Amino acid sequence: MSDNTRTATAFANSNIAFIKYWGNRDAALRLPVNGSISMNLGGLYTRTTVSFEPSLPMDELVINGSEIMGKALERVSAILNVVRQSAGIALRAEVLSENNFPTGAGIASSAAAFAALALAAARAAGLTWNESAISRLARIGSGSASRSVPAGFVEWKMGSGNEDSYAVSIAPPGHWPLADCIAIVADGHKSTGSTEGHALAPTSPLQAARVADAPRRLEICRRAIAERDFSSLADIIQLDSDMMHAVMMTSQPALFYWKPATLAVMGNVRTWQRDGLPAAYTIDAGPNVHVICPHSEMSKIAALLRKISGVSDVLTATVGGAAHPL
Ligand code: PMV
Repeated sequence: MSDNTRTATAFANSNIAFIKYWGNRDAALRLPVNGSISMNLGGLYTRTTVSFEPSLPMDELVINGSEIMGKALERVSAILNVVRQSAGIALRAEVLSENNFPTGAGIASSAAAFAALALAAARAAGLTWNESAISRLARIGSGSASRSVPAGFVEWKMGSGNEDSYAVSIAPPGHWPLADCIAIVADGHKSTGSTEGHALAPTSPLQAARVADAPRRLEICRRAIAERDFSSLADIIQLDSDMMHAVMMTSQPALFYWKPATLAVMGNVRTWQRDGLPAAYTIDAGPNVHVICPHSEMSKIAALLRKISGVSDVLTATVGGAAHPL
């Protein structure tokens, strides 16, 4: 590293969407067709160091010790280009990123990764941007990453354009001690990534109905969080996840992310609910099942999930804080 190197490190948690983002109205800017609400996942994180270095001929990306080229590097360079342009610098950067959870299996590794990258890159370039500006920058890398920037329970408003499409905290982490027990049913890479998935969303005849009903689901979710009403949260997040997967399954080509064990977990959660155990499932663009519950039930639910055939592991997370520099 030369004396002119500018470097910064940032930390961001992953997040799980309660009301999902699926489909863009502007793919390049990642402007969504509907708003979304999520909970940050404390304990599942990415730590990223960005170093702008005079000696580098091109941007470099290293994730968990492996050098990455191709599309992933292009997405990282797109963020760095915005930062370079805003800061008036031409230096290429080395990006070193570490996740503490498996990538590419529907645990939104891109959310934590692009949130940490946006914050580290802006800081390394000397930009003193506020949270909304960092959230907007993270959004360009991955829509859900906009939601990993603010703390706790977060809403990403669809906005009217680039300037006002960013995420804000709607309740701090301490507002409601919830937990996420993630039943891992496969840790291989997903077959169709979410960038391609968003592009297929309008080919489903169900997408228009899902989008038209989104303001209603968002309002129910907002109120459930404000009032700490677990039963109404459970109903709305399961409905929202089922609606998104119905769109996925009816896209052309169709996207089927569920495995037999995914359905087994969903069935068990519904049985536990009937037996009075507070738990609710939600599934992203992968086969793993996120089971949301009060923190007081986390150990019990994680143990129950481990007994289900086809569940290879269970990760747990509490409500996480904001992305921050290290
Ligand atoms: O941010 P992306 O492009 O990886 O899309 C995320 C899509 C879902 O995880 C399925 C839903 C969401 O809102 O996080």
